Amino acid sequence: MSKTWRPATQLVHEGTLRSQYGETSEAIFLTQGFVYDSSEAAEARFKGETDGFIYARYGSPTNDMFEKRMCALEGAEDARATASGMAAVTAAILCQLKAGDHIVAARALFGSCRWVVETLAPKYGIECTLIDGRDLENWEKAIRPATKVFFLESPTNPTLEVIDIAGVAKLADQIGAKVVVDNVFATPLFQKPLELGAHIVVYSATKHIDGQGRCLGGVVLSDKQWIDENLHDYFRHTGPAMSPFNAWTLLKGIETLPLRVKQQTASAARIADFLAEQKQVAKVIYPGRKDHPQADIIAKQMSGGSTLVAFELKGGKEAAFALQNALDIIKISNNLGDSKSLITHPATTTHKNLSDDARAELGISPGTVRLSLGIEDAEDLIEDFAQALSKVKS
Ligand SMILES: Cc1ncc(COP(=O)(O)O)c(C=O)c1O
Repeated sequence: MSKTWRPATQLVHEGTLRSQYGETSEAIFLTQGFVYDSSEAAEARFKGETDGFIYARYGSPTNDMFEKRMCALEGAEDARATASGMAAVTAAILCQLKAGDHIVAARALFGSCRWVVETLAPKYGIECTLIDGRDLENWEKAIRPATKVFFLESPTNPTLEVIDIAGVAKLADQIGAKVVVDNVFATPLFQKPLELGAHIVVYSATKHIDGQGRCLGGVVLSDKQWIDENLHDYFRHTGPAMSPFNAWTLLKGIETLPLRVKQQTASAARIADFLAEQKQVAKVIYPGRKDHPQADIIAKQMSGGSTLVAFELKGGKEAAFALQNALDIIKISNNLGDSKSLITHPATTTHKNLSDDARAELGISPGTVRLSLGIEDAEDLIEDFAQALSKVKS
Protein backbone atom coordinates (compact mmCIF):
# COMPACT_ATOMS: atom_id res chain seq x y z
CA MET A 1 0.00 0.00 0.00
CA SER A 2 1.14 3.55 -0.61
CA LYS A 3 2.56 5.81 2.07
CA THR A 4 1.63 8.82 -0.04
CA TRP A 5 -2.11 8.15 -0.06
CA ARG A 6 -4.27 10.75 1.59
CA PRO A 7 -6.71 9.69 4.34
CA ALA A 8 -9.78 9.40 2.09
CA THR A 9 -7.91 6.90 -0.11
CA GLN A 10 -6.29 5.02 2.78
CA LEU A 11 -9.67 4.54 4.42
CA VAL A 12 -11.07 2.78 1.37
CA HIS A 13 -8.08 0.64 0.37
CA GLU A 14 -5.38 0.33 3.05
CA GLY A 15 -4.76 -3.14 4.48
CA THR A 16 -7.24 -4.95 2.20
CA LEU A 17 -6.67 -8.73 2.14
CA ARG A 18 -8.44 -10.50 -0.76
CA SER A 19 -9.24 -14.19 -0.67
CA GLN A 20 -8.92 -16.50 -3.69
CA TYR A 21 -12.39 -15.29 -4.80
CA GLY A 22 -11.23 -11.74 -5.43
CA GLU A 23 -14.15 -10.14 -3.58
CA THR A 24 -14.53 -6.35 -3.97
CA SER A 25 -15.65 -5.63 -0.44
CA GLU A 26 -13.63 -6.88 2.49
CA ALA A 27 -14.70 -10.36 3.64
CA ILE A 28 -15.81 -11.31 7.14
CA PHE A 29 -13.71 -14.17 8.43
CA LEU A 30 -15.91 -15.58 11.17
CA THR A 31 -13.67 -18.34 12.39
CA GLN A 32 -12.28 -19.10 15.80
CA GLY A 33 -9.24 -21.04 14.62
CA PHE A 34 -7.00 -21.73 11.65
CA VAL A 35 -5.64 -24.98 10.24
CA TYR A 36 -2.02 -25.77 9.38
CA ASP A 37 -0.66 -27.82 6.49
CA SER A 38 1.53 -29.90 8.81
CA SER A 39 2.70 -30.30 12.39
CA GLU A 40 5.89 -28.52 11.40
CA ALA A 41 3.90 -25.60 10.00
CA ALA A 42 1.94 -25.33 13.27
CA GLU A 43 5.18 -25.39 15.26
CA ALA A 44 6.74 -22.69 13.06
CA ARG A 45 3.62 -20.49 13.37
CA PHE A 46 3.64 -20.78 17.16
CA LYS A 47 7.38 -19.99 17.27
CA GLY A 48 6.70 -16.85 15.23
CA GLU A 49 8.92 -18.10 12.40
CA THR A 50 6.15 -17.82 9.81
CA ASP A 51 3.41 -15.25 9.37
CA GLY A 52 -0.21 -16.20 9.74
CA PHE A 53 -3.05 -16.45 12.18
CA ILE A 54 -3.26 -18.80 15.15
CA TYR A 55 -6.48 -18.10 17.01
CA ALA A 56 -9.09 -15.36 16.70
CA ARG A 57 -8.42 -14.05 20.23
CA TYR A 58 -4.90 -13.17 19.01
CA GLY A 59 -5.85 -11.87 15.58
CA SER A 60 -7.75 -12.72 12.40
CA PRO A 61 -7.91 -11.46 8.78
CA THR A 62 -10.86 -9.04 9.10
CA ASN A 63 -9.46 -7.57 12.31
CA ASP A 64 -6.04 -7.34 10.67
CA MET A 65 -7.49 -5.24 7.84
CA PHE A 66 -9.13 -2.91 10.35
CA GLU A 67 -5.92 -2.58 12.38
CA LYS A 68 -3.79 -1.87 9.28
CA ARG A 69 -6.24 0.76 8.05
CA MET A 70 -6.25 2.47 11.44
CA CYS A 71 -2.42 2.36 11.55
CA ALA A 72 -2.21 4.05 8.14
CA LEU A 73 -4.61 6.79 9.19
CA GLU A 74 -2.99 7.38 12.55
CA GLY A 75 0.63 7.05 11.38
CA ALA A 76 1.15 4.24 13.91
CA GLU A 77 3.36 1.19 13.46
CA ASP A 78 1.01 -1.28 15.09
CA ALA A 79 -2.45 -1.63 16.63
CA ARG A 80 -4.82 -4.00 18.38
CA ALA A 81 -8.58 -3.91 17.78
CA THR A 82 -10.66 -4.35 20.93
CA ALA A 83 -14.26 -5.20 21.74
CA SER A 84 -15.10 -1.66 22.90
CA GLY A 85 -13.48 1.70 23.53
CA MET A 86 -13.32 0.90 27.23
CA ALA A 87 -11.51 -2.39 26.50
CA ALA A 88 -8.95 -0.31 24.56
CA VAL A 89 -8.51 2.26 27.36
CA THR A 90 -8.24 -0.38 30.10
CA ALA A 91 -5.78 -2.48 28.11
CA ALA A 92 -3.62 0.52 27.13
CA ILE A 93 -3.30 1.61 30.75
CA LEU A 94 -3.10 -1.63 32.69
CA CYS A 95 -0.85 -3.54 30.28
CA GLN A 96 2.07 -1.25 31.02
CA LEU A 97 1.72 -0.79 34.79
CA LYS A 98 2.38 -2.77 37.97
CA ALA A 99 1.71 -2.25 41.69
CA GLY A 100 3.63 0.78 42.95
CA ASP A 101 3.37 2.70 39.67
CA HIS A 102 1.63 6.05 39.43
CA ILE A 103 -0.69 7.61 36.83
CA VAL A 104 -1.27 11.33 36.32
CA ALA A 105 -4.59 11.89 34.53
CA ALA A 106 -6.61 14.92 33.53
CA ARG A 107 -9.76 14.96 35.65
CA ALA A 108 -11.96 15.84 32.68
CA LEU A 109 -12.38 12.30 31.40
CA PHE A 110 -15.31 10.28 30.12
CA GLY A 111 -16.92 8.70 33.23
CA SER A 112 -15.78 5.11 32.61
CA CYS A 113 -12.22 6.24 31.78
CA ARG A 114 -12.13 8.15 35.04
CA TRP A 115 -13.38 5.05 36.91
CA VAL A 116 -10.54 2.96 35.42
CA VAL A 117 -7.80 5.28 36.69
CA GLU A 118 -9.47 6.59 39.84
CA THR A 119 -11.17 3.43 41.17
CA LEU A 120 -9.93 0.31 39.37
CA ALA A 121 -6.18 0.97 39.13
CA PRO A 122 -5.76 1.66 42.89
CA LYS A 123 -7.26 -1.80 43.64
CA TYR A 124 -4.11 -3.22 42.05
CA GLY A 125 -1.74 -0.88 43.88
CA ILE A 126 -1.47 1.66 41.04
CA GLU A 127 -2.02 5.17 42.38
CA CYS A 128 -3.56 7.97 40.37
CA THR A 129 -3.51 11.75 40.70
CA LEU A 130 -6.26 13.64 38.89
CA ILE A 131 -5.49 17.19 37.84
CA ASP A 132 -6.89 20.08 35.87
CA GLY A 133 -5.07 19.13 32.67
CA ARG A 134 -5.45 22.52 31.00
CA ASP A 135 -2.50 23.90 32.93
CA LEU A 136 0.85 22.27 32.12
CA GLU A 137 2.18 23.20 35.55
CA ASN A 138 -0.34 20.83 37.12
CA TRP A 139 1.10 17.90 35.17
CA GLU A 140 4.59 18.81 36.30
CA LYS A 141 3.60 19.26 39.95
CA ALA A 142 1.85 15.86 40.05
CA ILE A 143 4.92 13.92 38.89
CA ARG A 144 6.36 11.41 41.39
CA PRO A 145 9.36 9.09 41.05
CA ALA A 146 6.89 6.26 40.28
CA THR A 147 4.96 8.16 37.55
CA LYS A 148 4.77 5.94 34.47
CA VAL A 149 1.66 7.07 32.59
CA PHE A 150 0.00 10.37 31.69
CA PHE A 151 -3.58 9.92 30.52
CA LEU A 152 -5.78 12.51 28.85
CA GLU A 153 -8.64 13.13 26.51
CA SER A 154 -8.71 16.24 24.27
CA PRO A 155 -11.14 17.79 23.54
CA THR A 156 -12.84 16.51 26.66
CA ASN A 157 -16.26 15.03 27.19
CA PRO A 158 -18.57 16.96 27.55
CA THR A 159 -17.22 20.50 27.91
CA LEU A 160 -14.69 20.35 25.05
CA GLU A 161 -11.73 21.57 27.09
CA VAL A 162 -8.41 21.19 25.32
CA ILE A 163 -5.06 19.93 26.63
CA ASP A 164 -1.68 20.82 25.16
CA ILE A 165 -0.64 17.33 24.02
CA ALA A 166 2.86 18.35 22.87
CA GLY A 167 3.48 20.08 26.21
CA VAL A 168 2.39 17.02 28.21
CA ALA A 169 4.46 14.73 25.97
CA LYS A 170 7.56 16.86 26.55
CA LEU A 171 7.16 16.52 30.32
CA ALA A 172 6.58 12.77 30.01
CA ASP A 173 9.72 12.31 27.93
CA GLN A 174 11.78 14.05 30.61
CA ILE A 175 10.83 11.31 33.10
CA GLY A 176 10.44 8.37 30.69
CA ALA A 177 6.66 8.18 31.19
CA LYS A 178 4.18 7.30 28.42
CA VAL A 179 1.36 9.57 27.29
CA VAL A 180 -1.91 7.82 26.45
CA VAL A 181 -4.39 9.98 24.52
CA ASP A 182 -8.08 9.13 24.13
CA ASN A 183 -8.61 10.83 20.76
CA VAL A 184 -12.31 10.09 20.32
CA PHE A 185 -13.57 13.66 20.36
CA ALA A 186 -10.94 14.97 17.93
CA THR A 187 -11.28 12.00 15.53
CA PRO A 188 -8.16 10.64 13.78
CA LEU A 189 -8.75 13.18 11.00
CA PHE A 190 -8.38 16.36 13.07
CA GLN A 191 -5.69 15.50 15.60
CA LYS A 192 -2.61 13.29 15.40
CA PRO A 193 -1.42 12.66 18.96
CA LEU A 194 1.57 10.53 17.87
CA GLU A 195 2.87 13.41 15.72
CA LEU A 196 2.46 15.69 18.74
CA GLY A 197 4.71 13.40 20.80
CA ALA A 198 2.16 11.15 22.56
CA HIS A 199 3.10 7.48 22.72
CA ILE A 200 -0.21 5.63 22.66
CA VAL A 201 -3.57 6.57 21.10
CA VAL A 202 -6.89 4.93 21.92
CA TYR A 203 -10.29 5.17 20.27
CA SER A 204 -13.79 4.11 20.93
CA ALA A 205 -14.44 2.96 17.35
CA THR A 206 -18.08 2.81 18.43
CA LYS A 207 -18.22 6.54 17.75
CA HIS A 208 -17.20 8.23 14.47
CA ILE A 209 -15.35 5.20 13.07
CA ASP A 210 -18.52 3.13 12.89
CA GLY A 211 -20.49 6.34 12.63
CA GLN A 212 -23.81 4.67 12.08
CA GLY A 213 -24.72 3.48 15.55
CA ARG A 214 -24.31 -0.24 14.85
CA CYS A 215 -21.61 -1.91 16.90
CA LEU A 216 -19.04 -1.45 19.64
CA GLY A 217 -15.31 -1.42 19.02
CA GLY A 218 -12.04 0.09 20.10
CA VAL A 219 -8.42 0.28 19.06
CA VAL A 220 -5.03 0.88 20.69
CA LEU A 221 -2.26 2.27 18.46
CA SER A 222 1.42 2.80 19.14
CA ASP A 223 4.92 1.92 17.98
CA LYS A 224 5.79 -1.73 17.41
CA GLN A 225 8.20 -1.93 20.32
CA TRP A 226 5.66 -0.67 22.86
CA ILE A 227 3.00 -3.05 21.55
CA ASP A 228 5.42 -6.02 21.54
CA GLU A 229 6.70 -5.30 25.03
CA ASN A 230 3.45 -4.25 26.72
CA LEU A 231 0.21 -4.96 24.91
CA HIS A 232 0.99 -8.13 22.93
CA ASP A 233 0.85 -10.66 25.80
CA TYR A 234 -1.80 -8.76 27.79
CA PHE A 235 -4.06 -8.74 24.73
CA ARG A 236 -3.56 -12.44 23.92
CA HIS A 237 -4.13 -13.67 27.44
CA THR A 238 -6.84 -11.39 28.84
CA GLY A 239 -8.98 -11.55 25.68
CA PRO A 240 -10.40 -8.08 24.90
CA ALA A 241 -10.39 -8.91 21.15
CA MET A 242 -12.93 -7.37 18.76
CA SER A 243 -15.43 -9.64 17.04
CA PRO A 244 -14.55 -10.08 13.33
CA PHE A 245 -18.14 -9.16 12.51
CA ASN A 246 -17.64 -5.83 14.24
CA ALA A 247 -14.26 -5.37 12.53
CA TRP A 248 -16.05 -5.79 9.19
CA THR A 249 -18.79 -3.32 10.16
CA LEU A 250 -16.13 -0.82 11.21
CA LEU A 251 -14.18 -1.34 7.98
CA LYS A 252 -17.33 -0.36 6.09
CA GLY A 253 -17.90 2.57 8.43
CA ILE A 254 -14.38 3.90 8.16
CA GLU A 255 -14.62 4.20 4.36
CA THR A 256 -17.00 7.12 4.79
CA LEU A 257 -15.37 8.67 7.88
CA PRO A 258 -13.97 11.75 6.06
CA LEU A 259 -17.29 12.46 4.31
CA ARG A 260 -19.29 12.16 7.52
CA VAL A 261 -16.88 14.08 9.74
CA LYS A 262 -16.64 16.91 7.21
CA GLN A 263 -20.44 17.27 7.10
CA GLN A 264 -20.83 16.89 10.89
CA THR A 265 -18.13 19.50 11.55
CA ALA A 266 -19.61 22.00 9.10
CA SER A 267 -23.02 21.58 10.78
CA ALA A 268 -21.46 21.85 14.25
CA ALA A 269 -19.81 25.16 13.34
CA ARG A 270 -23.08 26.57 11.95
CA ILE A 271 -25.17 25.41 14.88
CA ALA A 272 -22.62 26.65 17.43
CA ASP A 273 -22.91 30.13 15.86
CA PHE A 274 -26.70 29.88 15.75
CA LEU A 275 -26.94 28.81 19.39
CA ALA A 276 -24.57 31.56 20.53
CA GLU A 277 -27.14 34.13 19.32
CA GLN A 278 -30.15 32.66 21.12
CA LYS A 279 -31.48 34.45 24.20
CA GLN A 280 -32.02 31.16 26.10
CA VAL A 281 -28.33 30.21 25.73
CA ALA A 282 -25.78 31.47 28.28
CA LYS A 283 -22.65 30.06 26.68
CA VAL A 284 -21.49 27.96 23.72
CA ILE A 285 -18.25 25.98 23.76
CA TYR A 286 -17.02 24.90 20.35
CA PRO A 287 -13.39 24.22 19.42
CA GLY A 288 -13.91 25.86 16.02
CA ARG A 289 -14.98 29.22 17.48
CA LYS A 290 -12.62 32.09 18.19
CA ASP A 291 -14.13 32.54 21.67
CA HIS A 292 -13.08 29.05 22.81
CA PRO A 293 -10.92 29.73 25.92
CA GLN A 294 -8.04 27.68 24.47
CA ALA A 295 -8.26 28.77 20.83
CA ASP A 296 -4.45 29.14 20.71
CA ILE A 297 -3.81 25.46 21.60
CA ILE A 298 -6.55 24.35 19.21
CA ALA A 299 -4.82 26.24 16.39
CA LYS A 300 -1.55 24.47 17.30
CA GLN A 301 -2.79 20.90 17.49
CA MET A 302 -6.11 20.45 15.68
CA SER A 303 -6.77 20.73 11.96
CA GLY A 304 -10.56 20.94 12.35
CA GLY A 305 -13.16 21.95 14.92
CA SER A 306 -15.29 19.14 16.30
CA THR A 307 -18.44 17.25 15.51
CA LEU A 308 -19.69 18.13 19.00
CA VAL A 309 -20.93 21.35 20.55
CA ALA A 310 -21.47 22.00 24.27
CA PHE A 311 -23.75 24.79 25.43
CA GLU A 312 -25.33 26.04 28.59
CA LEU A 313 -28.94 27.10 28.96
CA LYS A 314 -29.76 30.02 31.23
CA GLY A 315 -32.74 28.13 32.66
CA GLY A 316 -30.66 25.24 34.10
CA LYS A 317 -31.93 21.66 34.21
CA GLU A 318 -35.56 22.61 33.58
CA ALA A 319 -34.64 24.43 30.36
CA ALA A 320 -32.28 21.65 29.26
CA PHE A 321 -34.97 19.01 29.70
CA ALA A 322 -37.58 21.17 27.98
CA LEU A 323 -35.28 21.74 25.01
CA GLN A 324 -34.39 18.08 24.65
CA ASN A 325 -38.03 17.00 24.94
CA ALA A 326 -39.13 19.53 22.31
CA LEU A 327 -36.58 18.51 19.68
CA ASP A 328 -37.92 16.40 16.87
CA ILE A 329 -35.07 15.38 14.51
CA ILE A 330 -32.38 15.51 17.16
CA LYS A 331 -32.71 12.50 19.43
CA ILE A 332 -31.93 12.21 23.15
CA SER A 333 -29.03 9.78 23.51
CA ASN A 334 -25.73 9.63 25.40
CA ASN A 335 -23.98 8.19 22.33
CA LEU A 336 -22.03 10.38 19.89
CA GLY A 337 -20.39 10.37 16.48
CA ASP A 338 -23.51 8.86 14.86
CA SER A 339 -25.01 9.86 11.52
CA LYS A 340 -28.06 10.87 13.58
CA SER A 341 -27.80 14.07 15.64
CA LEU A 342 -27.88 13.22 19.35
CA ILE A 343 -28.25 15.38 22.43
CA THR A 344 -27.61 14.62 26.08
CA HIS A 345 -27.77 16.29 29.48
CA PRO A 346 -24.44 15.24 31.06
CA ALA A 347 -25.37 16.05 34.68
CA THR A 348 -28.14 13.44 34.66
CA THR A 349 -26.61 10.91 32.25
CA THR A 350 -22.92 10.51 31.33
CA HIS A 351 -21.62 12.40 34.39
CA LYS A 352 -24.35 11.61 36.92
CA ASN A 353 -21.95 9.56 39.10
CA LEU A 354 -19.74 12.56 39.87
CA SER A 355 -20.38 14.69 42.94
CA ASP A 356 -21.85 18.16 42.41
CA ASP A 357 -18.42 19.63 43.20
CA ALA A 358 -16.62 17.37 40.73
CA ARG A 359 -19.13 18.31 38.03
CA ALA A 360 -18.71 22.00 38.83
CA GLU A 361 -14.91 21.61 38.55
CA LEU A 362 -15.43 20.26 35.03
CA GLY A 363 -17.72 23.12 34.06
CA ILE A 364 -20.79 20.87 33.89
CA SER A 365 -23.68 22.91 35.22
CA PRO A 366 -27.36 21.89 35.48
CA GLY A 367 -27.92 23.77 32.20
CA THR A 368 -25.08 22.12 30.25
CA VAL A 369 -26.12 20.18 27.16
CA ARG A 370 -23.90 18.22 24.76
CA LEU A 371 -24.83 17.95 21.11
CA SER A 372 -23.31 15.43 18.70
CA LEU A 373 -24.00 16.42 15.11
CA GLY A 374 -25.20 13.88 12.59
CA ILE A 375 -25.18 14.11 8.81
CA GLU A 376 -28.67 15.55 8.36
CA ASP A 377 -29.11 18.84 6.49
CA ALA A 378 -27.92 21.65 8.79
CA GLU A 379 -30.93 23.80 7.84
CA ASP A 380 -33.31 21.15 9.19
CA LEU A 381 -31.30 20.95 12.42
CA ILE A 382 -31.40 24.73 12.85
CA GLU A 383 -35.15 24.72 12.27
CA ASP A 384 -35.50 21.94 14.83
CA PHE A 385 -33.54 23.99 17.38
CA ALA A 386 -35.53 27.14 16.59
CA GLN A 387 -38.90 25.43 17.20
CA ALA A 388 -37.63 23.67 20.34
CA LEU A 389 -36.00 26.81 21.81
CA SER A 390 -39.28 28.70 21.36
CA LYS A 391 -40.68 26.38 24.03
CA VAL A 392 -37.83 27.11 26.48
CA LYS A 393 -38.01 30.02 28.94
CA SER A 394 -35.03 32.40 28.73
C1 LIG B 1 -14.08 9.82 25.18
C2 LIG B 1 -14.58 8.42 25.28
N1 LIG B 1 -13.70 7.44 25.58
C3 LIG B 1 -14.10 6.16 25.67
C4 LIG B 1 -15.41 5.80 25.49
C5 LIG B 1 -15.81 4.36 25.66
O1 LIG B 1 -16.11 3.75 24.46
P1 LIG B 1 -17.06 2.46 24.33
O2 LIG B 1 -18.43 2.89 24.66
O3 LIG B 1 -16.86 2.04 22.90
O4 LIG B 1 -16.54 1.44 25.30
C6 LIG B 1 -16.36 6.80 25.18
C7 LIG B 1 -17.80 6.53 24.96
O5 LIG B 1 -18.50 5.75 25.40
C8 LIG B 1 -15.92 8.14 25.08
O6 LIG B 1 -16.79 9.12 24.79
